[in-house]
Amino acid sequence: MSEQEIKVPDLGGADEVEIIEITVSAGDTVEAEDPILTIESDKASVELPSPGAGKITRITVKVGDKVKEGDVVGMMEPSDDAGGSDDSGDDEAEEKSEAKAEEKDEAKPEDKSEESKPAQKKAGGGSRKETVKVPALDGFDNVPVIEINVSEGDTIEVDDPLVMVESDKATMEIPSPYAGKVGKVLVSEGDKLSEGDKLLEMTVEEDGSSEEEASEDSGQEAKEDKEQKAKPQPDAEREPKQSESAPEPQGATYEPPSPGAKVHAGPAVRKLARELGADLTRVKGSGPKSRITKDDIHAYVKSQLKQAQQGGGVATGSGIPGVKLPDFSQFGETKREAMSRMMFATANNMQRSWLNVPHVTQFEDADITDMEDFRKAQKAAGEKKGVKMTPLPFLLKACATALAELPQFNVSLDMERKEVVRKQYIHIGIAVDTPNGLMVPVIRDVDKKGLWELAAESAELAQKARDKQLKPAEMQGACFTITSLGGIGGTAFTPIVNTPEVAILGVSKAAMKPVWDGKEFQPRLMLPLSLSYDHRAVNGADAARFTSVLSQLLGDIRTLLL
Ligand code: COA
Repeated sequence: MSEQEIKVPDLGGADEVEIIEITVSAGDTVEAEDPILTIESDKASVELPSPGAGKITRITVKVGDKVKEGDVVGMMEPSDDAGGSDDSGDDEAEEKSEAKAEEKDEAKPEDKSEESKPAQKKAGGGSRKETVKVPALDGFDNVPVIEINVSEGDTIEVDDPLVMVESDKATMEIPSPYAGKVGKVLVSEGDKLSEGDKLLEMTVEEDGSSEEEASEDSGQEAKEDKEQKAKPQPDAEREPKQSESAPEPQGATYEPPSPGAKVHAGPAVRKLARELGADLTRVKGSGPKSRITKDDIHAYVKSQLKQAQQGGGVATGSGIPGVKLPDFSQFGETKREAMSRMMFATANNMQRSWLNVPHVTQFEDADITDMEDFRKAQKAAGEKKGVKMTPLPFLLKACATALAELPQFNVSLDMERKEVVRKQYIHIGIAVDTPNGLMVPVIRDVDKKGLWELAAESAELAQKARDKQLKPAEMQGACFTITSLGGIGGTAFTPIVNTPEVAILGVSKAAMKPVWDGKEFQPRLMLPLSLSYDHRAVNGADAARFTSVLSQLLGDIRTLLL
């Protein structure tokens, strides 16, 4: 079965060009002129076409390599050859075994250029001992080892991570320059490494296809290439690779990684994980020693997508890399405890809202001096009724009036259907701080209720929230939320909109302030209001109108009756 070289054609005068994409892999069947790879000069990107129809047997270059006219980029079996004999039953078994060989090939590092070089001729078994040393660390030295990825007896491939080191700028993986068996590991976690330090001993198989032999045989070029490979790689699991130009959709399936989790995966699997934005520390490996396979990555991504579609997954933030956790134990003692379901749900809701909603917060102070006089005057009446009148019912009533006056705040956006949902009712949620976390019971038809009714209902719902007695229906259907920290303190804050609502009112602690009345400063009790809103639904002018309406209503509560 004769193989044909795939060579770089005339490059129209360009000297050396860079390979930016490889579109086929070993085992692929191609037609004449099908693109094999894409090369890019400083002027243009060009596809290198297949010289004929047939099957690709190997690709001997990798993305980033520079090539010039006449360079061999791969080998193929022309289809005449492959199908020329009359066993045109097409020897399925052969195809299968080749497909297998390809898979094996893929599991190894992509850069197999050395394999196609004269090194191939050097067959024969035997093994030799090598001491792996620390390569150049991008200008760093004395870099602490934070993780050791191999142990004595492990069989590893070229480029498999040996140890992870962390400078104050980056986490880097030191990959293996050889394939073979790991002997004695000469470093421990916490050791500080510099270029040339001994890392570990290895038994390298001399089977003619090892990277080491290839480098010996193909001289300086391969040596440089090997050095390049042995260069520490920014850790794919902790830091997106600098060289990858497209943003990685990591946030799409983000889950907090398990710190300190060791990952066993070959370079091809790591590359796939990077491409799909899968965090390898979250993927369960099904291979020997929990090694992660490509199938594991596919299964993980599939399950994450499914979860996200069902709304049960972790909040998404397309294109936004997840927050990577360091191993905190390196800084001191830590304890881990499971999040409560409520904490997890709240965290997800907050993140979903924060990532999906363009937030703006409008601030305003309302003069509640008279309102407070009136409220305090109700103390005796409240005691009779068994209800405490706090500022909250006034806020509820004022917000209901403002929502009726500015109905653009009483909406939800249906971006999928490109529709605005206008609500014809006014239900308001109140954020309640409970020992178990934040809960938001909802008061229905606030516009139709009086202050005493609102005072009684909000106190009852707040108590139910603290006693974990709220029914799901009592926490649904809000058009707007009030979050009052006034009983605690603070001068202002920027609350997060409780999606799919489009606005939330934050209330801070009222304080006496000197207010200019045109002639002199008057001591007035001022209530700080912070209105966060979804800027897709509400414009800034309307937000200023909303807080100004609130301020007028609270400043003169008689207007609440109008
Ligand atoms: N400025 C000054 N004092 C205020 C005030 C304000 N804005 N709001 C309330 N107060 C006073 C009340 O008048 C009361 O004082 P008093 O006992 O002297 O009359 C005291 O603070 C406590 O009020 P509180 O019991 O908190 O009642 P409330 O009706 O104001 O609030 C809840 C009820 C449920 C909203 C409140 O208890 C709560 O949980 N707030 C926290 C909400 C939260 O955590 N939000 C954060 C979301 S991120």
